[in-house]
Amino acid sequence: MDKEIYNKITSKKEFSHLPKKDIERAYSFFKKRQVSDFEKIRLTRELLHKVFSSFTSQKLLSLKDKDPSWILRKHLSTRERLPYYEEVYSKILKDFKGTIFDLGAGINGFSYGFFPQGVYYVGVEAVGQLVDLMNYYFKTRGLEAMAVHESLFELEKLKKYINQVKGGKIVFLFKVIDGLEMLERDYSKKLLEQIVPLVDKVIVSFATRSMVSKKSFRANRRWIFDFINENFKLLDDFEIGGERYLSFTRKPSH
Ligand SMILES: C[S@@+](CC[C@H](N)C(=O)[O-])C[C@H]1O[C@@H](n2cnc3c(N)ncnc32)[C@H](O)[C@@H]1O
Repeated sequence: MDKEIYNKITSKKEFSHLPKKDIERAYSFFKKRQVSDFEKIRLTRELLHKVFSSFTSQKLLSLKDKDPSWILRKHLSTRERLPYYEEVYSKILKDFKGTIFDLGAGINGFSYGFFPQGVYYVGVEAVGQLVDLMNYYFKTRGLEAMAVHESLFELEKLKKYINQVKGGKIVFLFKVIDGLEMLERDYSKKLLEQIVPLVDKVIVSFATRSMVSKKSFRANRRWIFDFINENFKLLDDFEIGGERYLSFTRKPSH
């Protein structure tokens, strides 16, 4: 992509530390439009904002030494989940020892204090500033955790990270599927097909109400529920605090 256009898009702080490939992917939707470069840049930024940063307070884009609950309140996804973390994790992490791969983590690494003992956390996130924020927290508190700056479209790299680790493995995909689908239709299916066989359990979540209209999304999500039911073994399906969680694993081989 044209360097000048790339530089213009990324001159805005919220897009300044995104993987280049994700910016190119967003731009590719508008590249051939019969509109000015200015308009293409505006449309690309609008899409990037929806996928990567609409739920993040600008306050999180510079490094801060605040307590975890302050940070968790500055991101829409974790703020909504904050009163329910104990309940959610006690359901999905019961008796689990091993590594959590939190794909599209946002700042969910700040919920580390809610994890049971014996858990190692790896958050994968495209927004570089959030990765730095999590790593600063993990390092200064000496936690068994790390954040990786990577795009979820780098499937081979993700698989490599997962395969490098021994022991129990769980993947979180909390409120991420919509964003992936905005940049590549059906990519979530491809990702799940490749990742589910490598781990013990995957947990996908969705907001069940629109933030704005409070209307149910469920009808639009049929395709992913059907896909999970057809291809994997569903372990649990529950709703807590306006978020629906599906937990599943590979189908037993006969
Ligand atoms: C709605 S937020 C959810 C954050 C977190 N999973 C939670 O529920 O607390 C979606 C997150 O996924 C990240 N994300 C979306 N697409 C991504 C991609 N292709 N690669 C890496 N991260 C991505 C966004 O940057 C954002 O932080």
